[in-house]
Amino acid sequence: MLTIALPKGRIADQTLDLFKQIHGGDFRFENRKLILTKDDFRFLLVRSQDVPTYVAHGAAELGICGKDALLEQNALVTELLDLKFGRCEVVLGMKKGARLDPSKPHIKVATKMVNIAKRFFAQKAMAVEIVKLYGSIELAPLTGLAEAIVDIVETGTTMKENGLERIETILVSSARLFANRDSFIERKSEILALREAIAKFI
Ligand code: PRP
Repeated sequence: MLTIALPKGRIADQTLDLFKQIHGGDFRFENRKLILTKDDFRFLLVRSQDVPTYVAHGAAELGICGKDALLEQNALVTELLDLKFGRCEVVLGMKKGARLDPSKPHIKVATKMVNIAKRFFAQKAMAVEIVKLYGSIELAPLTGLAEAIVDIVETGTTMKENGLERIETILVSSARLFANRDSFIERKSEILALREAIAKFI
């Protein structure tokens, strides 16, 4: 039995579709259940940001989540495969026409991705205040909570509809398959066999 942590939402649906194609049968979580056991697999349904934690602690041997979540969590895991779906970008956004003024003494940036934002501004040697939010990040520049945001863009609609624009792309993300470091050593052939089976379908 291999335990695989999946993030609630589209990435979990697409992963279970892959397992349907590989193994046949119906891979589906029943109504509010958070564990799905089928064939030799046990799937856990968790929040995207929590997938690396489940895998790093060994509560799951494998996990799938966006590269953005892996980078944000600084997860100590073994990355195995780019699944190509779940594509999104993490961008720096501001009100249309606005630009960051590095000479300004106090710049505030709102984000739910604090670590990615901190690294981005550290590389630019810019001192900014990071304001942690949990959602609706696009509101921050519209209300004066912050000048800029670091946020996820998929279609770009949310930013556009709120009068914001991308200043810079920080990273391009897609879903990744990754393993607990010890599990990868102890169950290498089993894990690599699954990796190969998945790779054939992407
Ligand atoms: C994410 C992200 C953007 C939006 C981007 O938010 O933070 O707000 O999706 O998608 P788009 O480019 O296709 O418009 P999410 O839907 O996760 O909700 P949240 O604001 O509660 O985090």
